[in-house]
Amino acid sequence: MSRTLALTGSTGFIGAALLRKLTRAGWKVRALHRHSASRSRPDAGEGAIEWIRGSLEDAESLLRLMRGAEAVVHCAGAIRGATADEFRRVNVGGVVRLADAARKTHPRPRVLLISSLAAREPHLSHYAASKRAGEDALGRAAAGLVWTALRPPAVYGPGDRETLPLVRCMRRGFSPVLGPRGARFSLLFVDDLAVAVRRLLESAPWSQAPFEIHDGHTGGYTWEELILTVARIIGRPVRRFRIPVWFMQAAARGNLLLSRGIGYAPMLTPGKVRELTHPNWVCDDAALRRATGWEPRFQLEAGMRRTLQHLRNGRWMVER
Ligand SMILES: NC(=O)c1ccc[n+]([C@@H]2O[C@H](COP(=O)([O-])OP(=O)(O)OC[C@H]3O[C@@H](n4cnc5c(N)ncnc54)[C@H](OP(=O)(O)O)[C@@H]3O)[C@@H](O)[C@H]2O)c1
Repeated sequence: MSRTLALTGSTGFIGAALLRKLTRAGWKVRALHRHSASRSRPDAGEGAIEWIRGSLEDAESLLRLMRGAEAVVHCAGAIRGATADEFRRVNVGGVVRLADAARKTHPRPRVLLISSLAAREPHLSHYAASKRAGEDALGRAAAGLVWTALRPPAVYGPGDRETLPLVRCMRRGFSPVLGPRGARFSLLFVDDLAVAVRRLLESAPWSQAPFEIHDGHTGGYTWEELILTVARIIGRPVRRFRIPVWFMQAAARGNLLLSRGIGYAPMLTPGKVRELTHPNWVCDDAALRRATGWEPRFQLEAGMRRTLQHLRNGRWMVER
């Protein structure tokens, strides 16, 4: 008989990849969704998915989500927003309510939180602070449950609306450089993250602490390496233009004001600029490899090749 797990965030970029990977691995998935339109739900072997209508703010729907599930992968999160409260409501409040539902529906539930490498630098932004506070809240709620968390760096791949403009620009032969000279960052192709989640679900015991994870390229990448990799794949040079920090900050402040005026959740904020210009987003996945035997399959060139292929075929938002 297949095992049942609960999944949040499956209508988003990473969650959709998790849904596909986990159903293909034989898990029966109960997936939380907020919107009634079926087109917002990824198609991934419908028989293996039970959709539960609700949200992280709706404790009753979380109980329905968790009933009969031996584990939950909590991937839903707010990645855009203007205020600390907007992020905390989802990224902290959601963790607390979900952990509570898990404890009420299973004698010893397992909770796997998709956190973020940003949690390592909580002072940079409201988003980063909320991801760290979400981990801490899960740690405090730990009595009666087993938990672990993954801290991915920037995740890329087909289906990601946030990196689509950058990938499009690069394919057309030009790229902004957003970080300072010498900045280094780890990256992760979305399929490798999905495999790591599957491996964690199949391995025991869990760490009761977050694991860092990246694509296996020790020491991370620079913008120059990223741009040269794309140039190699598309077979022509990619021209770069450095965007000064003062310009990004001014644009972010303008965007923040506009978002308050018009009422949308902004991605580019002063906090996001501090994240983008942070010089060190390099991480270390040794603990995760030791615990699970997981190995990433896609370093930058392979992952970017696949990503660009989906863009070229007009299949950005469809099954990978
Ligand atoms: N993308 C990255 O590079 C990256 C890196 C590190 C960590 N992460 C973490 O990975 C997770 C997923 O990120 P993503 O890039 O896939 O983001 P995304 O595409 O924006 O997806 C976010 C998901 O969360 C759901 N969600 C948001 N607020 C919710 C609420 N109040 N109740 C129920 N569901 C809610 C969204 O549902 P709707 O479809 O209904 O809006 C969507 O399914 C986040 O926790 C993020 O912090 C992402």
